[in-house]
Amino acid sequence: MIIFKNVSYSYPGGRPVLNGVSLHISPGERVGLIGANGAGKSTLLKAALGLVDADGSITVDGTGLSRKTLPFVRKALGYVLQDSDNQMFMPTVLEDMVFGPMNYGMSRTEAEALADSILSGLGVAHLKHRQNHKISGGEKRMAAIATVLMSTPKAVLMDEPSSSLDPKNRRALIHTVNSLPIAKLIASHDLDMILDTCDRVLLISSGQIVADGAAGDLLGDKELLEKNGLELPLGMQRCWAGKGDE
Ligand SMILES: Nc1ncnc2c1ncn2[C@@H]1O[C@H](COP(=O)(O)OP(=O)(O)OP(=O)(O)O)[C@@H](O)[C@H]1O
Ligand SMILES: [Mg+2]
Repeated sequence: MIIFKNVSYSYPGGRPVLNGVSLHISPGERVGLIGANGAGKSTLLKAALGLVDADGSITVDGTGLSRKTLPFVRKALGYVLQDSDNQMFMPTVLEDMVFGPMNYGMSRTEAEALADSILSGLGVAHLKHRQNHKISGGEKRMAAIATVLMSTPKAVLMDEPSSSLDPKNRRALIHTVNSLPIAKLIASHDLDMILDTCDRVLLISSGQIVADGAAGDLLGDKELLEKNGLELPLGMQRCWAGKGDE
């Protein structure tokens, strides 16, 4: 579904932020991307979306990423960026949600019915007619996620999807993410959310994938996490505490 071969990128005038990244995500795979601040997680997601022009080869759904194939790739991938403010360009949540599907030929009635069911599923039906510039950070995040679900992407990329969500919305997000039968690549510092939503984890450090393994193994590897500036998720701390009691 998403293949990176030796992908490197430096922001203009800067040092390499992605440093020979190779990865392979199969259809339906649920993959978490973790790493300390500045490790390169967001840049990696941006490279997959062609938002930064990286060296090396990137293939999405069988198509090599290039300027020409960018519209195809963007349609195949749903994405929620770290700064979801920049993703909304219509005045209200509803208008933002129906814009894409209507552009691709869905009727207004159909698009609105779909929007209603997605907003209800996320438990945020009250946001439907709210103005995008007058909602809170967490509400914007939920609205951005709802908008992504309006298209039928083949894979979804999420950058810190749970940041600024209250516990109830975070749970709704985890539930929704787990109900999507498509491939997911989720970058987050919320390692408990990664544990709840992903089977596989990639650990990035200084622009390189330094570990790639089963979520349960990698997120329980205290030494590896600490060596890379991270800490055990709470769910795993309980396991460690339990081991100490034995
Ligand atoms: N637009 C930019 N111009 C120049 N440098 C940038 C830009 N965006 C990010 N960087 C640098 O690239 C490196 C990787 O940034 P990136 O945003 O990919 O990290 P991250 O792993 O997503 O971090 P975080 O956990 O803080 O979100 C950092 O050193 C950052 O300062
Ligand atoms: Mg980031």
